[in-house]
Amino acid sequence: MTETPLLTVSNLKQYYGTGKKRVRAVEDVSFTICPEETFALVGESGSGKTTVGRTIIRILPPKGGKILFGGKDISGKLSGEERKELSRKLQMIFQDPMSSLNPSEKAGDIIARGLDIHRLYSSRTERREKVLSIMKEVGLPEEAFDRYPSQFSGGQRQRIAIARALIMNPELLIADEPVSALDVSVRAQIINLLKELQRKRHIAMLFIAHDLALVRQISDRVGVMHEGKLIETGTAEKIFGHPSQPYTKKLLDSVPVLYPEDTGSSGTGEV
Ligand SMILES: Nc1ncnc2c1ncn2[C@@H]1O[C@H](COP(=O)(O)OP(=O)(O)OP(=O)(O)O)[C@@H](O)[C@H]1O
Ligand SMILES: [Mg+2]
Repeated sequence: MTETPLLTVSNLKQYYGTGKKRVRAVEDVSFTICPEETFALVGESGSGKTTVGRTIIRILPPKGGKILFGGKDISGKLSGEERKELSRKLQMIFQDPMSSLNPSEKAGDIIARGLDIHRLYSSRTERREKVLSIMKEVGLPEEAFDRYPSQFSGGQRQRIAIARALIMNPELLIADEPVSALDVSVRAQIINLLKELQRKRHIAMLFIAHDLALVRQISDRVGVMHEGKLIETGTAEKIFGHPSQPYTKKLLDSVPVLYPEDTGSSGTGEV
């Protein structure tokens, strides 16, 4: 690929704890994501996928390696201004919409948080209009503005999380298992919404998921993680059609429905 990557992760390392209790969550992970591309991270539970996402978004400072975003090193210390700029361009949707939304804040204020921090409006009316516009785009009714997270369904809460991320017009969206906490019946709706908004707004996405059928459906390239390492990277076609690593084959073998060309809809594809 000749396009300049938006994100370049090189030899990333991340540990939890110290001494004997140290958990080497991420040992050596390198990949790139180009503008507008969807790159998926797959792998068993505990392989380090979420840790990679949390490190990129700077919830955890990396213990080793480098992260370039838009050609700029974001893995070290940044000025307040740089952090602020990054918090607009880089957004994350977390796995569990209940725990990632402040229960005592109204949906409208949750969605407006980024606008507040970056002062992206000149009046309360403009703030409200911007929030209502994105709410409409993600399929939330106007009345939702003044309701609290507990007063929504799981799917609606995930729509709030999507609205909160997209109102900032990010360049990269990290979506960590964005539908796994949701009822099967609403998963497809939320995924379709995410894809549609991504396309419309030209956003690149790091998509973290267990559901291999879903990953195959929505990603351009896939990275397979195993015990903190990225053991294979390739186009979705290559990874699902001709995996080269025995571990990837085993992972795919646990979901036999993935092999037929038309993946159909039988089975959940969970690993
Ligand atoms: N806050 C933490 N403190 C200590 N260890 C942690 C912490 N968070 C994660 N780990 C450990 O780091 C490793 C990687 O965890 P991580 O959450 O990144 O995996 P994952 O691939 O996202 O798993 P899952 O698919 O279950 O979400 C695991 O061994 C996990 O137990
Ligand atoms: Mg995880």
